[in-house]
Parts: sequence; C-alpha cells; structure tokens
Amino acid sequence: MRFSSALQAAALLGLTSGRSVPGNHVVHEKRAVPRSSLHKRVSPDVVLPVRVGLKQNARALEQAEDWLMEVSHPGSSMYGKHWSPDEIVEAFKPTDEAIETVAAWLEKSGISKERITHSDNKVWLAFDATTEEVESLLHTEYFHDDQDRALVAAHEYHLPSHVSEHVDYITPGVKGTLMELRRRDKRALNAESTRKSRRRQQHMKPLPELPKSWSSSDLSTCDQVITPQCLQALYGFKAPSPNAKVSKNNSLGIFEEGDYYAQQDFDKFFAQYFPSVPKGTHPILDSIDGGKAPVPVADAGGESNLDFELAYPIIYPQTTTLYQTDDTFYATSNSSTTGGIFNTFFDAIDGSYCTYSAFGETGNDPKLDPKYPDPNAGGYKGKLMCGVYKPTNVITISYGVQESDLPAYYQQRQCNEFLKLGLQGVSIFVASGDTGVGGYPGETQSDFYGCLRDDDVFSPTQPNSCPWLTNVGATKVYPGKTVHDPESAVFDPSPSFNFSSGGGFSNIFPVPKYQQGAVSSYFKNYNPPYPYYTDGKYENSTGIYNRNGRGIPDVAANGDNIAVWVGGEQGTSGGTSASSPIFASLVNRIVEERIKVGKGPLGFINPTLYTNPGVLNDITNGTNPGCGTLGFNATKGWDPVTGLGTPNYPKMLDLFLSLP
Ligand SMILES: *[C@@H]1O[C@H](CO)[C@@H](O)[C@H](O)[C@H]1NC(C)=O
Ligand SMILES: *[C@@H]1O[C@H](CO)[C@@H](O)[C@H](O)[C@H]1NC(C)=O
Ligand SMILES: *[C@@H]1O[C@H](CO)[C@@H](O)[C@H](O)[C@H]1NC(C)=O
Ligand SMILES: *[C@@H]1O[C@H](CO)[C@@H](O)[C@H](O)[C@H]1NC(C)=O
Ligand SMILES: *[C@@H]1O[C@H](CO)[C@@H](O)[C@H](O)[C@H]1NC(C)=O
Ligand SMILES: *[C@@H]1O[C@H](CO)[C@@H](O)[C@H](O)[C@H]1NC(C)=O
Repeated sequence: MRFSSALQAAALLGLTSGRSVPGNHVVHEKRAVPRSSLHKRVSPDVVLPVRVGLKQNARALEQAEDWLMEVSHPGSSMYGKHWSPDEIVEAFKPTDEAIETVAAWLEKSGISKERITHSDNKVWLAFDATTEEVESLLHTEYFHDDQDRALVAAHEYHLPSHVSEHVDYITPGVKGTLMELRRRDKRALNAESTRKSRRRQQHMKPLPELPKSWSSSDLSTCDQVITPQCLQALYGFKAPSPNAKVSKNNSLGIFEEGDYYAQQDFDKFFAQYFPSVPKGTHPILDSIDGGKAPVPVADAGGESNLDFELAYPIIYPQTTTLYQTDDTFYATSNSSTTGGIFNTFFDAIDGSYCTYSAFGETGNDPKLDPKYPDPNAGGYKGKLMCGVYKPTNVITISYGVQESDLPAYYQQRQCNEFLKLGLQGVSIFVASGDTGVGGYPGETQSDFYGCLRDDDVFSPTQPNSCPWLTNVGATKVYPGKTVHDPESAVFDPSPSFNFSSGGGFSNIFPVPKYQQGAVSSYFKNYNPPYPYYTDGKYENSTGIYNRNGRGIPDVAANGDNIAVWVGGEQGTSGGTSASSPIFASLVNRIVEERIKVGKGPLGFINPTLYTNPGVLNDITNGTNPGCGTLGFNATKGWDPVTGLGTPNYPKMLDLFLSLP
C-alpha cells in the first residue's frame, strides 16, 4: 500500500514508530497488517544487501507489443529487423531521470558511488550497508523472525517524495530478504524444498503388433505407429541430405528439466527408424546451473528421448542444442507445494533477466525458484548462471503447469521475457498441454478432472497463455485413416488420464491484437454452448471459461503413437510434447533455408501465421474433452483445440522465404 501525502504518512508513522521522519518524506510502502513473526530487531551491525528497484519504464511496457509486431508482422516495413540484446536492455530500462534522481539521493545520504553497483539491465541499484545505515536512510526499523534462514523486513519505510516516484520497491523493505543470521541447520534446509516436478506433456505405450515384414517407411501403419516417414508424408517435407552443408548458427534449441536423454536409446532409434543419422549423434549440451545429460539407458527420460528422436530425422545434419536446466535436487525433487519453472533458463540465455524487475518482482522468485549455489548434497555449487549462452534461433519447450499453479505476476514477468526473445529473433514453441480444457486430475482431494472452482471451470495451461510464444496442440491419425486423410484433434483415453489437446482461453492474458480476428470469428461462427465470464475472474461467476482471454493453441501437429526408444525398449509415446518439437523442427528447417539465401531468423511467427492461415492444414474434426465436458470442437478456421492447424511445409517455406 502506498501513500502519496506526506501528511497522511506522518500521521500514520506517529502511531507506529518513535522515529522522526523529515517533512519531505513519504511512506513508500507499508504492510496493512504487520507480520507477527517478525518480532526481533536486527542488530545494527548486520550487513544488509540492499536493492533499490527502479520503476520500470511504463512506456516501454505499453509499447512492447507494438515493437514486437513491427518486426514480426508480415505487413510491416521493419519485418525481420530484430533487436540486439543491448537494444532491448536500453529500451526496457528505467528512464535516465529515475536512475539519476535515485543515485543522487543515495550519494547525498552517504552511500558513495563506489559502493553502488548497477545491475546489467539497469533496473536496479545495489549496495551493502549496515542495518544502522539503512534504518537511517529509510527512516525505518528492521525485524527478523526465528527461522534459521531468517526473514528480514520492515513494516514500512520512507523516501523523499521526489525519490519515491521513481522507485518501485526496496529490499529488504516490506518485501523481506531471507538471510543467514545464524548457521543453517541441515534438516531445516531439506524441508525448504518447495518444488514440484513439472509436467512433461508425454506418456509411453508398448509398440503395437506389426507384421514381420514391417518397415518404418511403411505408410500403411501410420494409424498405429508414427515414424519419421509418416511425418514427412503428413506435412509434405523430405529429409535433408545427410551431407548437406548447414549453418553453424542454426542449431535447434530443446529445453529439458529433470528428464534426461540416453545415447544408447538414440542409437537404437536411429538404426531402426532413420539410419542416415549416425550412431553417437547427440546434442550440444548447454548445461544450466548443474543440469547434466546424458544418463545411463536405465535412467532415460521419456520426454528428452521423444523430443530428440523426433527432431533429428527432420533437421539432421543440422545440430540440436540441449538446454538442460537445474541440478538434480531442484530438477527432480517432489513436494506438495507448487514450484516455479523457466526462470533459471531465461537467466542463462539473457543475463539481464537475472535482475530484471517487472510486475513487482525482481530477479528469481525467492519462494518459487532454485537458489544457487545450492547448499544441498550434490547440489550445483556455482553461482546462478546469467547470460552464459546465446539463445538459438528456434527453441522448443514441452514442459508446463497450469496458469492457476503460479502467481500472475510471475507469469507476466516471464511473458514479457518471451516477448523480448521474439524481438531478438528467437522463435519459441511450447506444447499446449495434454488434458484438453482441464488440468491433471488429483491436485486436490476433491478434484477429479483437474479443473478450477468446483472442479468445473476450464483450467488454462502455463506458459501457453502468454501471447508471445507459439503453442502447439496435438492431432492424431485415427485407426483406419491414412496420412492422406485429414488429421483430427487427438483423443486417447487411458485409466490414468485422458489425453486430449490442451486448449482454451487464458484467465490472465487478454486476446492479443494479432489473434483478435481469429478468436472473434470462432465465437461468431461456433458459439460454444457454455456459460462464460469476461474478466478472467471465475470465482463468483457461473461461467466456465474466459471469453476475453488469449486463445490456446496457435497451431498443432501430430502427437499420438509416436515411435520411440526409451530405457532400452521400443514403444510409442505421445503428447503435445511430440507436437511442439515437430513444429519447431520444421520452422528450424525454414530458418535454415532463409539463411542460405542471406536472410535472418524468423522470431515470433504468430502474426505471419494468423494473417496467412492457408499455410496450415486446417483441422476440423475432434474435440478436447475435460472438466466433465466434451471441451471445444475443432472447426473450420482457428479453434481452441488445434489452433490454425498442422504444418503444410511447402506452403510455409514459400511464405517465409518470400518475407524479407
Ligand atoms: C554466426 O554467428 C557468428 C557469431 O555470432 C557470426 O560472427 C557469424 O557471422 C554468423 N554466421 C552466419 C552465417 O550468420
Ligand atoms: C518423485 O516423484 C516420482 C513420480 O511421481 C517418483 O517416481 C519418485 O520416486 C519421487 N522422488 C522422490 C525423491 O520422492
Ligand atoms: C475419460 O474419458 C472417458 C470417456 O472415454 C470418461 O468416461 C471419463 O470420465 C474421462 N475421465 C476424465 C478424468 O475426464
Ligand atoms: C460441438 O459440435 C456439436 C455438433 O455440432 C455441438 O452439438 C456442440 O454444441 C459443439 N460444442 C461446442 C463446445 O461448440
Ligand atoms: C467473491 O465474492 C466474495 C463475497 O462477495 C468477495 O469477498 C470476493 O472478493 C469475491 N471474489 C472475487 C475474485 O471477486
Ligand atoms: C473425427 O474425430 C473422432 C475423434 O474425436 C474420430 O474418432 C473420427 O474417426 C474422426 N472422423 C473423421 C472423419 O476423421
């Protein structure tokens, strides 16, 4: 809560503290109800790590969508003119006036310039100071709780009014900082783990019985097993020559966390399904904060193997780059509380993100994200990796949670980062989720369908609801159908859960401009017979989906009965986990062709796809059941089941080659 009037501030202060506050100061932040756990004063000589978060450039956030459209809308004269990382930092940093005003105030108050560091992204100033110094600077008092890793915070603090208007918030302040005031106790540390294993949108089945003479290039069995050759036939592309010359700058990026590939499986897979990929072919490892790969075949992960076994036959001899995030403790520990995801990945590919302030959060979330160095046994002992890797042109992500699992500000800050990556020319594909309009069942005792409110409201997936990435739903070749028939939206029931294409409408993000035409046509032509709400707030409504939310997914690709080798066995796997790497691999091929003719990467492709839906095969049959409903229908045009449809590679290639 903030107060702008000094009078009000002084009056309130009189009630809570004996310190006198100069008349030109205002209460910058104050807790409505002081935290009762904070009952001990921090001793004056304890050194506090102070961060002054500057107000983000409000104009930049407002304009960001326009900036992205300028470089990614095919009708724009600036199409393809992506920004450099430095230009992005410059555009999103606070105004010079903000930086100068705050720095001058600190200097005048005795925090000399030499003590202050400016974060790489220029959004905050940091310095160490004794509690005594900070209490006098902010006209406040610091308290801590009894935890081993103590929370240090103030109930309120003050700033001169001309400084207050440029400051977002200061930590430790009302927002506390966890600090080692005492030695840590090992048991307490372990109890601190609050991360839940993120969902990989993938699941495995045994290989069906096939004739003895069966070969993977047999297209008559694509309704039972999807091989690389089935995908070629479905989407109209050929494998590149294994000796083709490829760009050094166009490796396909694949994100993994807590799930690891096994080389032995890759070799078996290549030998059986795609022998032109030589034995031993493996990704370039960009290990993030202790992420390790590969693992022995017995520990092979279904997600990693699926992603790479799909990608290589499409892009080889182009390489893949594996972004393996987080040490094993953070990547695989299970816990009942929800954990964050993706922030350490963004930190590693964009150094400025480590300290970026937006939507009330600076840097990683103290409760939701891993902390490095990791003090746990076997944990990664290095510092948090910031800006150590350059992002690849195309990245595919088959992980996610539900929107309702994470605070909105956490998702908004991340979504802003997806936007910045698009501005830089990075194309990002994300699996849209495997549970139709609902979530995974069983998160709470009363929840059979994994849905919101009384287990009846549709539950959008995260990070898919962010408008600045391309999310990919799943299709299927149903029994008796061939690769020459149109595909339908996937439905594959099983006792543990029913697999259907993640889709619906965000409760957090509004429909972006580039999608408005598609979404409104859908509602006009196929008004779903479900009650809805219009502001993202379902608690007190009778509606079951948000009529004004960003629509999910954008596009689709096959996601059922995919041939794989995992853990030394062959079988079939599936999920939108498969759809995303398929789509991303084809876009990576298109970028490769553009590089050959001297053009650049594509960045954010949605505006081009939504204005040219004819380059996709429209999917018009099937539904995405969930929450005790049949979900939505796949229809002519965009729909919240399969988006605009599956790739028509020759048409997509022509279109994207024709753009500057
Ligand atoms: C590849 O990237 C490097 C380093 O970023 C750059 O110097 C080089 O010009 C790029 N090559 C091509 C073909 O784009
Ligand atoms: C974490 O969960 C997975 C799957 O639910 C389970 O197989 C594994 O044993 C769990 N690990 C720990 C450390 O509890
Ligand atoms: C799964 O689908 C079947 C119909 O095939 C339905 O009876 C069942 O309720 C569904 N289960 C869930 C959890 O949605
Ligand atoms: C899906 O299509 C069927 C048949 O036309 C129709 O009865 C149903 O209401 C549609 N469902 C939605 C959610 O639009
Ligand atoms: C729902 O209604 C209750 C009672 O009127 C109110 O306290 C609550 O804030 C409302 N929730 C939302 C999200 O509007
Ligand atoms: C339509 O989709 C359903 C699954 O929802 C599938 O069983 C059926 O075969 C499909 N029909 C056609 C004509 O593709």
